[in-house]
Amino acid sequence: MEANAPKRKEARKSLRIKVISMGNAEVGKSCIIKRYCEKRFVPKYLATIGIDYGVTKVQVRDREIKVNIFDMAGHPFFYEVRNEFYKDTQGVILVYDVGQKESFDALDAWLAEMKQELGPHGNMDNIVFVVCANKIDCTKHRSVDESEGRLWAESRGFLYFETSAQTGEGINEMFQTFYSAIIDLCDNGGKRPPSSMGVGFTKEQADAIRRIRNSKDSWDMLGVKPGATRDEVNKAYRKLAVLLHPDKCVAPGSEDAFKAVVNARTALLKNIK
Ligand code: GTP
Ligand code: MG
Repeated sequence: MEANAPKRKEARKSLRIKVISMGNAEVGKSCIIKRYCEKRFVPKYLATIGIDYGVTKVQVRDREIKVNIFDMAGHPFFYEVRNEFYKDTQGVILVYDVGQKESFDALDAWLAEMKQELGPHGNMDNIVFVVCANKIDCTKHRSVDESEGRLWAESRGFLYFETSAQTGEGINEMFQTFYSAIIDLCDNGGKRPPSSMGVGFTKEQADAIRRIRNSKDSWDMLGVKPGATRDEVNKAYRKLAVLLHPDKCVAPGSEDAFKAVVNARTALLKNIK
């Protein structure tokens, strides 16, 4: 027993992991990795051709980990090249550009592509995902705000960071937290530890906030048909108010959603006899 102890400690110390980057072309995947590994930023766009592979050693807490990074090309043209690299991954860096709504809307399709490639026996629940809302230095063109991105990520149990590969903001914190979560996963036998699952809000709350944000008018916001009665409006309002009241709901964007619901109800009641 005693003789094995140092060996076990050694094995605990070094760890080899595989991470991949995913997201639309030109969102900044390669630049995020370059900023962390090489501490520099390249302003010129050099599209990744198929896949870029690199190995890096990092120190996280008391552990040294060897990271195999597979930086994927985002362009649909390279699907055939990247599809074989999804397997045996412990961590995914999922990137969108905060100034490009399409790249945010595409995140679901990226998850679907990975799920499809992993096949029916693949399990995405035991992979650490970090969402990078990138290019936050371009404040003028921002079209996806923080609460929207955070809600999407956290309602799925993913980490969320606001990043800029250009200025370096958020990059080190993102990688440290990401690697730390992967170590916890490996130490837990490859399963996501229960402590990292709870986000403090429900899927119903997240869905309601998303629906309210995307609603086209006050009727739609309360989820009632145009021409609904005062009673129907009040009933729908009460249900949403209970679900989203800022004292009870900690989901990102809940405060704005709650205010919008209050305003929608007031506007509708003004016009209903
Ligand atoms: P593909 O390899 O084609 O999938 O693209 P990618 O996601 O790897 O994008 P890449 O890192 O090559 O960056 C695309 C462009 O965005 C480049 O011109 C970068 O200089 C620029 N860029 C990347 N990150 C940032 C950022 O945080 N801020 C700003 N302003 N520009 C960025
Ligand atoms: Mg790239």
